[in-house]
Amino acid sequence: MSVVRSAITGVGSYLPEKIVTNDDLAKFVDTSDEWIVERTGIRQRHQAADDQPTSDLAVEAALKALADAGRSASDVDMIIVATTTPDSTFPATAAIVQAKIGAPVGIVFDVQAVCSGFVYALSVADGFVARGLSKCALVIGAEEMTRLMDWQDRTTCVLFGDGAGAVVVEPREGQGTKADQGLLGFALRADGSKKDLLYVDGGPATTGTVGHLRMLGNQVFRHAVVNIAEAITLACEAAGLEIAEVDWFVPHQANQRIIKGVGDRLGLDEDKVVLTVAQHANTSAASIPLALDAAIRDGRIKRGEVVLLEAMGGGLTWGACAFRL
Ligand code: UT7
Repeated sequence: MSVVRSAITGVGSYLPEKIVTNDDLAKFVDTSDEWIVERTGIRQRHQAADDQPTSDLAVEAALKALADAGRSASDVDMIIVATTTPDSTFPATAAIVQAKIGAPVGIVFDVQAVCSGFVYALSVADGFVARGLSKCALVIGAEEMTRLMDWQDRTTCVLFGDGAGAVVVEPREGQGTKADQGLLGFALRADGSKKDLLYVDGGPATTGTVGHLRMLGNQVFRHAVVNIAEAITLACEAAGLEIAEVDWFVPHQANQRIIKGVGDRLGLDEDKVVLTVAQHANTSAASIPLALDAAIRDGRIKRGEVVLLEAMGGGLTWGACAFRL
């Protein structure tokens, strides 16, 4: 049976120039390179310049993804930006990106699911593309998490970084089987009763300030391993795939120990797991497309292979997506 699939036809990413090492942080907060590397795997993070808003990072990633897909801004009819650090409360960062790249009038909006934002946004794009409502969608994860840091709080400020990644999603004809190119299966979950484990203590309708990120790290850690393992299993089921059929796992890059914990729980082959947490730290919704792009650029992930994306973040939200590139 012929079906329309949403296929990822281009991938791109961007990291701001400035690199902040663990030793740089240890100069003003009571931490050490040794602690950060041992507990998280993080060695450095990128930080946006003062005059470089989230939309600028998103634009750089989007233009690379469009070039990779052989498309230009004039082809784009939908832009979804997954971000928890928008340029402004409104308009949506997607609208700012649309104006900056010169895309025509179309569908644009942001998705707010924090670190799971990219997986959520991809599922939303699938809803439009597979129904024929978009022929060329940009799905972008773009974040400046360093803007939300309390630089006195060593339990959070060492964990996050800035960056952006983007994919172009276009319709492709398939047969409705797991051999099709495109998005094959999703699992999305949220549990708002756990909202106090990871949140920002400000906002337009409460304090009137941007606020700072607060996290009960070890509790989030425990939920992450269980929830992500569940999401991977469910997304594979939805796609009709055995976990062993997945060629590459591209996890949200929060903590190397979480990624290892999930791998151990599901018996994943470590060589199939893409890791960028050492270089990028946790870039929230940007981390998955950044890692995906890194592994495509260095030749590991190839066209035709099955990729599994997974994430968990504030909300709590979590999810996974299986696709054939
Ligand atoms: O992307 C969204 C999802 N977020 C996550 O997935 C993050 C999940 N959580 C984590 O990654 C880990 O829980 C952390 C990396 C945040 C913390 O690691 P942990 O092994 O859970 O450490 P802990 O919070 O239990 O703290 C252990 C000790 C504490 O000292 P005491 O109380 O044992 O004396 C902390 O005060 O480590 C101390 N500590 C630090 N020491 C040096 C906490 N942060 C630091 C630091 N440098 N930066």
